[in-house]
Amino acid sequence: MCGIVGGVTNNDITALLLEGLNRLEYRGYDSSGLIVLSKNNTFDRARSVGKVKNLEDNLKARDQKILGNIGIAHTRWATHGEPSISNAHPHISMNSVSLVHNGIIENYIDLKNDQLNKGYSFTSETDTEVIAHAIDFAMKSCNTLISSVQLAIKSFSGSYGLGIISSKYPDQIIAARKGSPLIIGIGKNGNYIASDQMALLSVTKEFIILEEGDIAEIKINKITIYDLDGILVNRPITISKLKEGQVDLGNYDHFMQKEIFEQPQAIRDTLESRITKDSVVISAFGHKAETIFKEAKQVQIVACGTSFNAGLVAKYWLEDIAKISCNIEVASEYRYRHPMLLDHTLFITLSQSGETADTVEALKTAKIINNNISTLCITNSAESSLTRLSDLTFLTHAGPEIGVASTKAFTTQLVSLALLTCTIGKLKNIINKKQEKKIIDGLKRLPGLVNEALLQEVQIKDLAIRFKDTNSALFLGRGTMHAIAMEGALKLKEISYIHAEAYPAGELKHGPIALIDRDMPVIAIAPNDELLGKLKSNLQEVKSRGSQMIVFEDTNSKVEAMDAMEVIPVTSNLGRITAPIIFTIPLQLLSYHVALIKGTDVDKPRNLAKSVTVE
Ligand code: AGP
Repeated sequence: MCGIVGGVTNNDITALLLEGLNRLEYRGYDSSGLIVLSKNNTFDRARSVGKVKNLEDNLKARDQKILGNIGIAHTRWATHGEPSISNAHPHISMNSVSLVHNGIIENYIDLKNDQLNKGYSFTSETDTEVIAHAIDFAMKSCNTLISSVQLAIKSFSGSYGLGIISSKYPDQIIAARKGSPLIIGIGKNGNYIASDQMALLSVTKEFIILEEGDIAEIKINKITIYDLDGILVNRPITISKLKEGQVDLGNYDHFMQKEIFEQPQAIRDTLESRITKDSVVISAFGHKAETIFKEAKQVQIVACGTSFNAGLVAKYWLEDIAKISCNIEVASEYRYRHPMLLDHTLFITLSQSGETADTVEALKTAKIINNNISTLCITNSAESSLTRLSDLTFLTHAGPEIGVASTKAFTTQLVSLALLTCTIGKLKNIINKKQEKKIIDGLKRLPGLVNEALLQEVQIKDLAIRFKDTNSALFLGRGTMHAIAMEGALKLKEISYIHAEAYPAGELKHGPIALIDRDMPVIAIAPNDELLGKLKSNLQEVKSRGSQMIVFEDTNSKVEAMDAMEVIPVTSNLGRITAPIIFTIPLQLLSYHVALIKGTDVDKPRNLAKSVTVE
């Protein structure tokens, strides 16, 4: 949830720390800070509340530059303690240890009481400060920094990604990971740490992904890694395929806008080498996929937020098209209850980041409940906790998604789930060759169809003005479009702070219709499917209660426009698989333009973070 970057180099590190923080800001932006060891081995620290820009301004305003070859930095998403200078990282203990932390130390109150008794004082309300004191205390009985960290972390319960420096060991950074992502970058002029590769792309493409429980000692020309049991280990070096330009705005005003318009290419990339002229490539899901899918008796999906909405679409597809029973649940609930998990369940996790703590823990829970299941993760992150924990991995090739509001990750997840539905249906002899070809043809049309839907932007921009003073909105859809309505409502909430709810259109009469009046706009999705007649009746019910309505329709749906009801044709002749993907586009554009009108921070909406690696 927070972002960490650090390095030990031949050069001054400050500029790189700031660049890294800017690239990690999507992970949290309540406050930020950095610390370096200056020439005389003393700490020089700067911290600011708010965006990284405030930290940059703070540094510019200083008479004395912060200079040094070794340093760590942090951008925070507050969990314990409000966003304030004193709660911002890095934290320092006794002028001897300084660290940055991503995660939560759950037993920090017990540790704090113990440390108060030992004479330590606290300057923050965070759970992090106890880590610094624990390491300082351990240094009294250990003769290296890494052994002090190894000793101290034995007392922690919870999760951490840590970057640690010490004035007593000025040639090294210690990195430790448990439950929060952390990577090491190997550069020509030094070695680095970060929460993700994007932070370090300007200095290296070579990375070591730390595994759960790893602790590393990082010096300018030497990296030593110990595993959970303190055993010296060699972790492989991976070469990143990310390009620096991929994480820049280019000609766009916002990452969300850029990512909405990148969807045709992202879908093309996700389909590439996964389909042939007329069929799906089964091995794209991994060499064990064929056996696993044939054996699967039912599917359980867990995910959070937007990824959950994608999973809900897949539930309809898997049951309707592949005829396999499918349950879906939000990961934050699944992980804490005692679910039944039958043998031969295909357990699927969906996650853009591959690091969402609830989803990762739900997967671990599932494996404990029944080890006679198979696991598949669909993620946008090749080197992530989910990929490491799963039997099968299917990567969405969306490219880096920086905007906190997920867009291209969602549509590429849907494409991946469509391929999965087709694969399972085919392996179970539910889908014949003709039906498979029809699905593949539909998927191939998607990039063009998305481009067409994007052309509606001008009209949607005009519609957005109506939401200027709106406090609440209702999204309606039936079948898979209920999931798309949920995604539309989530987008509007996240970036324009308008209360929005989604309902299956048929459920309206059981309560929510009481909310409807002239001040509550209703946004409905009207594909030309077997439920169209029923949806039209529901729209009439809403209309007669005086609501202002916007209907996104398939041209063949022929929803009749009336007073206070605007009908926007989005596309035509869509099938069960293509329709949810295409109807997502106008909803993304609508929330983007409403947010612009409201003047919110589109890419970094308040209180949110891109990658939710805490509970
Ligand atoms: C989407 O717009 C949200 N920012 C959020 O709901 C997100 O989808 C959720 O936190 C799950 O993230 P993941 O896909 O990386 O697991």
